Amino acid sequence: MGGAVSAGEDNDDLIDNLKEAQYIRTEKVEQAFRAIDRGDYYLDSYRDSAYKDLAWKHGNIHLSAPCIYSEVMEALKLQPGLSFLNLGSGTGYLSTMVGLIIGPFGVNHGVELHRDVVEYAKEKLDAFIKYSDSFDKFEFCEPVFQVGNCLEIAADSHQYDRIYCGAGVQKDHGNYMKVLLKIGGILVMPIEDQLTQITRTGQCTWDSKNILAVSFAPLAQQSRADGDKPDTVHLPPVTVRSLQDLSRIYIRRTLRNLASEDAHAKATAQRIPQKRKRRRCRRRRISTYVFVGNQLIPQTIESEEEQHPEEEHKEAEEEEERDIGDIEVTGGDVPGDPLRRYAQKEST
Ligand SMILES: C[S@@+](CC[C@H](N)C(=O)[O-])C[C@H]1O[C@@H](n2cnc3c(N)ncnc32)[C@H](O)[C@@H]1O
Repeated sequence: MGGAVSAGEDNDDLIDNLKEAQYIRTEKVEQAFRAIDRGDYYLDSYRDSAYKDLAWKHGNIHLSAPCIYSEVMEALKLQPGLSFLNLGSGTGYLSTMVGLIIGPFGVNHGVELHRDVVEYAKEKLDAFIKYSDSFDKFEFCEPVFQVGNCLEIAADSHQYDRIYCGAGVQKDHGNYMKVLLKIGGILVMPIEDQLTQITRTGQCTWDSKNILAVSFAPLAQQSRADGDKPDTVHLPPVTVRSLQDLSRIYIRRTLRNLASEDAHAKATAQRIPQKRKRRRCRRRRISTYVFVGNQLIPQTIESEEEQHPEEEHKEAEEEEERDIGDIEVTGGDVPGDPLRRYAQKEST
């Protein structure tokens, strides 16, 4: 599946192509895709293929095509603070992108069948947190991965605001996925060769919409001999944040805001204010005489005359001295200055 958009030379190039082809449609999804280099989720020797719109499979490692992830990220309608469950979380690429949008007050869980794939996902997550330049630019909800078969989730498990299933769901398992969803929540899954978006509208009601024709490898079924007890998967607990965690989040947020204010101030200072010239005209009264019939009648005519720069300058100085309370910027003032001038006048 994939190949819908042209290959990119690097991650940004790939995202440009996904945007151009309308797979990525919102800014927050674009930012998440740009922040995480798809190449980092490939083995080094295959990295060159990472920016093609193609799925990649190597042993148990399996990534879907970028156009699929774009549709999924858009269809999930992610917001800060939501809880997310990824069924078949694989390398953690999608879970990590989701974490950048739901932020530190969200919940980000993944269930993956293969232990070696969960180890791989943890390594990739560690590397992202330690080495990626993007990490500091976002408030992040770190994913927690659980090894197990996602068709064996404990019946008393909590429900989620958003769920994605990364492998083909059989029709019989559709309802099993739907009850994991909170009312008002959204589930995106491939079912009967359609990527489908399901919204839970009530206790027993769901709205369903097909988004894209797809072809996914199916979910592995429960593997147990008749009569064996299933290996129940217990999802990670949803815990209240510790005081230490909250402090870290707020310190990071404050530092990030300060850094971005600083960068903004530097950028503004570098911008040289453009002199805006206002064409000044002076009204002149001219006394004259006009003929009406055979009578000469005195008349006053008003004429507009463009002012010379020196005159203009002189007049501006005079105006300033008179302090006439005009708050219009007539040239050269830095942005924000008129308001400050106005405020000073008000306060004096
Ligand atoms: C296409 S990959 C998803 C990749 C993932 N979206 C990512 O960002 O890397 C599908 C994943 O589902 C996993 N899987 C298949 N059947 C499963 C099951 N029954 N329970 C849990 N995981 C399963 C596979 O091992 C595989 O890693």
